[in-house]
Amino acid sequence: MSAATPNPLRAGTRIQKSADPCAVVVFGATGDLTARKLVPALYNLSRLRLLPAGFSVVGFARRDWDDVQFRALMKEAVQEYSREPLVEELWDSFARGLHYVSGTFDDDAAYARLGERLKKQDEAHGARGNRLFYLATPPDSYEVIAEGLGKNNLARPAATSGWTRLVVEKPYGRDLASARQLDEHIGQVFRERQIYRIDHYLGKETVQNILVFRFGNGIFEPIWNRRYVDNVQVSVGETVGVEGRGGYYEHAGALRDMVQNHLLQVLALVAMEPVASVSGDAVRDEKAKVFQAIVPVENVALETVRAQYASGAIVGQTVSGYRDEEGVDPRSVTETYAALRLHIENWRWADVPFYLRTGKRLPKRATEVAITFKTPPLQLFRQLGGGDDPTPNLLVLRIQPDEGISLRFGAKVPGTRSDVRPVNMDFRYGTSFGTDPPEAYERLLLDAIIGDSTLFTRWDSVEAAWSLLSPVIDAWGNGERPLEFYEAGSWGPDGARDLMEGDGREWHRM
Ligand code: BG6
Repeated sequence: MSAATPNPLRAGTRIQKSADPCAVVVFGATGDLTARKLVPALYNLSRLRLLPAGFSVVGFARRDWDDVQFRALMKEAVQEYSREPLVEELWDSFARGLHYVSGTFDDDAAYARLGERLKKQDEAHGARGNRLFYLATPPDSYEVIAEGLGKNNLARPAATSGWTRLVVEKPYGRDLASARQLDEHIGQVFRERQIYRIDHYLGKETVQNILVFRFGNGIFEPIWNRRYVDNVQVSVGETVGVEGRGGYYEHAGALRDMVQNHLLQVLALVAMEPVASVSGDAVRDEKAKVFQAIVPVENVALETVRAQYASGAIVGQTVSGYRDEEGVDPRSVTETYAALRLHIENWRWADVPFYLRTGKRLPKRATEVAITFKTPPLQLFRQLGGGDDPTPNLLVLRIQPDEGISLRFGAKVPGTRSDVRPVNMDFRYGTSFGTDPPEAYERLLLDAIIGDSTLFTRWDSVEAAWSLLSPVIDAWGNGERPLEFYEAGSWGPDGARDLMEGDGREWHRM
């Protein structure tokens, strides 16, 4: 087949599937996530006319609200949190599809009321029995809700038509054993292909662009391997503390809250092999292979860092230490900073270290992937300010904020001498596209409604991530790597610097 002849087997793979009419049932509808993310995202999808005709939302929670109250509160939420201002007419038509059912998650009568309500909506909106159940509750309710849906015959589509899907928020378990137990429980009611596990990082445009950058261009993939790459760093810095979520965070910590999901997912996209198609399970299959190839952390004392912020200052503002946050034990040993060195034992990456770090109360909010390349074999030119060795080429994928990509290389300093100084080539989303990327939740909700699970985490990668990190959490619990402290507003503990220095490297400056 000539290059110009399209392959008929591939035809149609890039066409966006359309969404069936459906009802989205949000468990935990009175909570923060619904107000801050879910309803604003659905409103924006509706504004962009991306939702199907016959779309409706049923909020389900304990509080004794009715449709009118739910609509009024969701309107306030959209006014406060939507990325685009609320337009009355658009809101009115969207709000007509918002409903509320009150009940506790273990009450069969409440599920019966929900079932009745959904039936009515099928009639009124023509949703044809299609339902997306969204678990926006604290994780300790996941099992009981799945069970309630199963027992009350809501999990299975009606015999005539329709589909049912379950969207589950993180955290999916708190270690390997509890994740397996949760999955087994949910698995008694829903099949894997019905389960959509959210990792909101996968909904970010810039995270999706990792694949476009790698596989939509011809020039990067040939150098994306151990022959050319010296090391890869994935860093997520946050200036915020625990933002009133001390109660949750105390039992989580940075490793569970960020590394187990967001950082490892980003790592997998950076490290995976090329795919023949970006639809279906192809991407998730390749990511799973990366997880299988990550070497278990054997020496926790040498390969990991755990630390907690003490009081300090961020942008001139004094902030308290983690132990003084509301809901936090004053003797807490929960880590707010974690760093680790991983190795991926496969043909492409053997001997290239992958460094991960994330922390709260750092000086800057930034998520970046930094790929440092090997230096040229000969030093022909004088480095200005770069020490003895040439400054290595550095590719930085800026996930957020200031989304973009930059490439550092050496350039001749103007003048009669052959002096070299590193300079940057820079791409910025804002400048090139002149538009703000949509919120991650918009993309993810739409994909779940459409039935595209590519950007959701499959059980095998969740299990692999816990298999990797559970032993680290246990070893930390046994004191194998002592907890350090860092001043709020600093770049983290000394141990993180030592981890790099020990390897003759340094953290990329964000
Ligand atoms: C969440 C974590 O998953 O991600 C939070 O629970 C964290 O602790 C947040 O602040 C960071 O997300 P983003 O999109 O702001 O980088």
